[in-house]
Amino acid sequence: MNMQSVVSVEKVVRRFGSGTTEVVAVKDISLEVVPGEVVLIMGPSGSGKTTLLSMLGGLLRPSEGRIQIGEDDLTLMDESQLPNIRLQHIGFIFQDFNLLSALTTLDNVALVAQLTGISRKESRKKAKVLLEQLGLGQRLDFLPHKLSGGEKQRVAIARALVNKPDMILADEPTANLDSHHGRETMRLLREVAKQEKRSVVIVSHDERIKEIADRVLWLEDGEFKDMVEMAVDPVCGMSIDILHAPATADFEGTKYYFCANGCRHEFLAAPNSFLQVDHE
Ligand SMILES: Nc1ncnc2c1ncn2[C@@H]1O[C@H](COP(=O)(O)OP(=O)(O)O)[C@@H](O)[C@H]1O
Ligand SMILES: [Mg+2]
Repeated sequence: MNMQSVVSVEKVVRRFGSGTTEVVAVKDISLEVVPGEVVLIMGPSGSGKTTLLSMLGGLLRPSEGRIQIGEDDLTLMDESQLPNIRLQHIGFIFQDFNLLSALTTLDNVALVAQLTGISRKESRKKAKVLLEQLGLGQRLDFLPHKLSGGEKQRVAIARALVNKPDMILADEPTANLDSHHGRETMRLLREVAKQEKRSVVIVSHDERIKEIADRVLWLEDGEFKDMVEMAVDPVCGMSIDILHAPATADFEGTKYYFCANGCRHEFLAAPNSFLQVDHE
């Protein structure tokens, strides 16, 4: 594996069930994520996103293949070692936040720090600093049911960050948020990745997350597929899926894509009138 990469997934397969009811949720997936990188895995419902993320986080074992986090090979580890690896190296953000309903904001975050063996007092101090940074200083003593969706998510992010994990995994993190809070929390994740060189893997079908990702992968039926590449029809301005363009033309070494033959003809009659350089 690449010496730099935090996470390396090699030819991972995951099956559920057996015989005629067998489902292959993830098929022969390989992936490397380097420190500071934000990877977004998109794909329709049922495409294997949660299964893949769960394996990355050591919550689910692959049927085949290898997953390495730093020096540690998750697939070779004993079940009893995994909770510790998760605690030290991985921060999870779940779709439904998974906050403990009987604990305050502060304690939800402090608990995770305390599990690594540091004192309650020290844990609460760390949690408080982090929550204040995330704008939750006025919510430390609130129980989860008193928090808004955006606030709950920030608590979930604080909890994922408190032990300074190498890798942060988020499953549909914006699913329960309005677009303002969704965007804000995603920017925050990006900042953490860049400033502190953490690896972030997000699975979602939310197009808006694309803007914070360094790399976008498309998962379909448990496999990575090429992302559809789009071009703009120079005549009418429509977006064209280049693999299924109804018409194309080559002009001065560049390929152009058109929504129909009509636009193509118009273009070829006077290409330069459609290719004025835009200095905006
Ligand atoms: N525990 C399980 N038992 C059986 N089938 C499962 C289990 N978890 C997921 N699957 C199946 O694997 C496929 C991928 O599921 P999932 O990873 O949850 O997809 P996504 O998160 O992209 O919606 C689906 O067909 C789903 O029904
Ligand atoms: Mg899912």
